[in-house]
Amino acid sequence: MKGIILAGGLGKRLEPLTRITNKHLLPVYNKPMVYYPLETLVGAGITEIMIVTGGNNAGDFLRLLGNGREFGLKHINYTYQRGEGGIAEALGLCEHFADKDKIVVILGDNLIEKSIKKYVDKFRRQESGARILLKKVPDPQRFGVACFKDGKVISIEEKPKKPKSEYAVTGLYMYDPYVFDIIKTLKPSARGELEITDVNNAYLRRGGLYYDIFDGWWTDCGTFESLLHANSLVEKKCRKKR
Ligand code: G1P
Repeated sequence: MKGIILAGGLGKRLEPLTRITNKHLLPVYNKPMVYYPLETLVGAGITEIMIVTGGNNAGDFLRLLGNGREFGLKHINYTYQRGEGGIAEALGLCEHFADKDKIVVILGDNLIEKSIKKYVDKFRRQESGARILLKKVPDPQRFGVACFKDGKVISIEEKPKKPKSEYAVTGLYMYDPYVFDIIKTLKPSARGELEITDVNNAYLRRGGLYYDIFDGWWTDCGTFESLLHANSLVEKKCRKKR
């Protein structure tokens, strides 16, 4: 199983913080943001990792993380996404790296309280298809939202004005190699991006999408409010450990 961190994009919702650096290099309490998804993958036993960056500061990832020795890694792979083609486009750049293996994908601004190992282990045992992680949130309209029927996810809607449930699709996705064939069929959405929600809906139509619901907290850092919230969650977690 290989790991992929998607850390491209221009982080426009965080202007002017992102004017001279990449969103994923901004601090969250005592570490740069990208440390958290990296620790999440390593904590689940994943050691082959690709980081997709973009924008004007891609070189800073290399200066910051190098070959990942601080995280117990021997090597980190990097690739570059031009422009803002979306999460699914960024993932499409990793086909060669994935090399027909299963992959765990995490968005570079997603922070998770606890280990994801148990979900990754379930996916290891899953023969094929995809696995997503859901979390009940107070503001589902900000996310991809799962719609349920009889306890099953029947569709996912991207940032719906009237969400059909309170369950956000978090930025942690597990896919079999078929994901790259799906990405090649996608068309840009209204915001001009290849949407990861379209990938997940394609798996749903094939009957190959499974899900778990996170225990512990989960947050993204894409807005000022969520970035502030992430800082306070991490600070509390550090305080508990002391
Ligand atoms: C992306 C996805 C969305 C998902 C979210 C999780 O949204 O498009 O489906 O719920 O990440 O953080 P973004 O905030 O990148 O627009």
